[in-house]
Amino acid sequence: MSDIILTERPHEHVALVRLNRPKSLNAISNELFEQLVIALETLAADGVTRAAVITGDARAFAAGADIAEFAAARPQLEMWDRVWSLELPTIAAVNGLALGGGLELAMSCDLMVVAEDARLGQPEINLGVMPGAGGTQRLTRAVGKTLATEMVLLGRELNGREAELHGLANRAVPAERVVPFAIELARALAKQPPHAVRVAKRAIARSFEGSLHAGLLDERQAFYGLLQTEDAREGIAAFVGKRKPTWSGR
Ligand code: CAA
Repeated sequence: MSDIILTERPHEHVALVRLNRPKSLNAISNELFEQLVIALETLAADGVTRAAVITGDARAFAAGADIAEFAAARPQLEMWDRVWSLELPTIAAVNGLALGGGLELAMSCDLMVVAEDARLGQPEINLGVMPGAGGTQRLTRAVGKTLATEMVLLGRELNGREAELHGLANRAVPAERVVPFAIELARALAKQPPHAVRVAKRAIARSFEGSLHAGLLDERQAFYGLLQTEDAREGIAAFVGKRKPTWSGR
């Protein structure tokens, strides 16, 4: 297994999966995403693991999709579908930044534990695009339209306490407690009847799946449409060039 994804086993039925690209704030490159999905699918099929905690490091859970790869992006669509169809229960343990695709990954987990001072947001609008992997759908269902609109259109971030208050995270705890608490939750999940947990997980996902699926397809199409625009090229070039973008509206 590649060292950009590290897997540990803190308890018999619990795995801890770490995103490990600290220099890029765990930006989700194609390679990292592929390795993550393979690691999770391997755990789901090993007959032993009953819950997985996904985490990053102290600075970042993940600062989003890897912007440097955007222009040449091989669409990550299939990878996201594989994350969403995982049977293994997952818990996001968020320290530091969970932005863009990072927050979308955390929201794709069944439970989310965040540091009180974590920073959660969907800043894609600042690049001239929009969330493309559940940010407009899962976020809106979690926090409601009012707050989701501020986050997606204005790039408002929430800290961990606010994320708990608005139902985006299950629990906000002091930073050093995030991973231990997520492992406690995973151990509690691992004690539950595994088949019932997997079936119930799927049923919860299905409770809003019909319209969510249509929404995700719309969102995906809109996101890739936006990626073709001049503003997206400008936003990405500006980020990479460490300058402020100038929007043309095209
Ligand atoms: N992609 C690629 N590289 C990234 C990155 C990203 N999303 N986020 C940070 N990095 C890199 C920076 O380029 C920098 O690299 P160098 O040291 O080589 O210059 C390194 O990580 C450290 O980042 P900063 O120096 O910028 O750290 P900071 O503490 O000053 O700022 C930050 C932190 C505010 C998060 C800033 O890095 C930032 O704005 N990052 C981009 C966040 C973002 O827009 N995320 C959404 C991406 S789009 C998306 O996610 C869409 C999708 O999935 C479908």
